[in-house]
Amino acid sequence: MSRRLIPSSPATNWRACMLTLAGAWLIDAAGPVAAESTGHAEHPRSTEAGRTLLAQYQCGSCHTIPGVAGAQGIAAGTLEGFGRRSYIAGRLANIPDALAAWIVAPQSLVPGTAMPAMGVSQADAQLMAAYLMTLR
Ligand code: HEC
Repeated sequence: MSRRLIPSSPATNWRACMLTLAGAWLIDAAGPVAAESTGHAEHPRSTEAGRTLLAQYQCGSCHTIPGVAGAQGIAAGTLEGFGRRSYIAGRLANIPDALAAWIVAPQSLVPGTAMPAMGVSQADAQLMAAYLMTLR
């Protein structure tokens, strides 16, 4: 039946197959981006503000942070999937308050850490922490 509707040779079958594969790959690649733009159902305003602040404070000069414009740094670890991590800097329990405190004053929590204090206010740090917690 389908042969009558779609006349095909082995060559066109191969082509269709490759196009399907390419399509699947594109859908796959677009997946996380789509999830980022829709995945903030709980606190959409604070997470969007946090995303903007992460870009403004240029955390991305050292860290790769999915969804944050220009955040492709490699000097420090990627923050991809940070919401699933158990620890901050391998030391502190990864809960929003501790994460905000870390962003404000990393060296007071983990003396000697290479992460600098960036002059972030408590309020801004909480918004950034809220965004980082959405990264799955
Ligand atoms: C100069 C480079 C640099 C900048 C800029 C920087 N960080 Fe970091 N950051 C680090 C380093 C180095 C570590 C690893 C610290 C450690 O493990 O002791 C780190 C660790 C972290 C961690 C914990 C990562 C983990 O794997 O546990 C978070 C979260 C974080 N930074 C967020 C931020 C945020 C938010 C900003 C912007 C306000 C920022 N960083 C700016 C260097 C930087």
